[in-house]
Amino acid sequence: MKLFFYRNKLGSWLQEQQEHQQLAFIPTMGALHEGHLSLIAEAKQQGCLALASIFVNPRQFNNPEDLRRYPRTLDRDIRLLEQAACDAVFIPEADQVYDPHSQIPPVALGFLAERFEGSFRPGHFQGVTDVLWSLFHTIRPRDVFFGEKDFQQCMVVKKLIDTHFPDIHMHIIPTRREADGLAMSSRNSRLSEAGRINAPAIYRALQEICHQKHKTPLPELLRQARSYLLQHQIETEYLELAVPETLDTLEQWPETPAVLLFAGYLEGVRLIDNLRC
Ligand code: PAF
Repeated sequence: MKLFFYRNKLGSWLQEQQEHQQLAFIPTMGALHEGHLSLIAEAKQQGCLALASIFVNPRQFNNPEDLRRYPRTLDRDIRLLEQAACDAVFIPEADQVYDPHSQIPPVALGFLAERFEGSFRPGHFQGVTDVLWSLFHTIRPRDVFFGEKDFQQCMVVKKLIDTHFPDIHMHIIPTRREADGLAMSSRNSRLSEAGRINAPAIYRALQEICHQKHKTPLPELLRQARSYLLQHQIETEYLELAVPETLDTLEQWPETPAVLLFAGYLEGVRLIDNLRC
């Protein structure tokens, strides 16, 4: 596996490769887990050359403490990528991502970026589109792979691609879960043993709401779920049912498919999850 730390070195390598194989790009912030590796596996299965990136993007953290505590496991990440047969990895410093000479064009995210994650993490999606615009602009991949665990992020990335990179194919890969249902996340490693036991209550709560679809009024189910989560030390930030394409909040059970979106804190660790139902 090739390692690149500088944009120009990566650029020369990409130029040599692009004649031979279609390039898939898998952006990450490291602290890799099976969820990330499933994105690499999918890219490889589709016959692509797989390039991952590892960059903890300061612009998408509204909370400096969260940025400071974000897990960093570079040696292990490189080993895991190698084992996953990833072809190359870009590990830049900020000056290799953000080029002062190229202006990042605005992406009109509007409502999409104001709801849910956007309202609790002001500026977060601006930071995500900044880094992805810069990386897509440098790398020019044909395919990009994202995990559905970050449901709202997927919608935002889709908007970025539709607006500025219409030739890129976006693939959204289902959330990987631990055996007890907890969505895999780099942040799970920050939970204590007791926290780790409580954390799967999130998925159980989402499943229970979906099982009760049309049987119990939605507001009552959401109330019950919040109190069930509190019993497991999980403080809900938001738990809502929404229209998948627009993220409009639903107050009642719809006839059409919907998505449950959750964010909350357990032991000071921010966890998110979602479930289509
Ligand atoms: O999902 C993430 O890990 C990050 O938001 C991403 C897409 C790598 C951008 O920094």
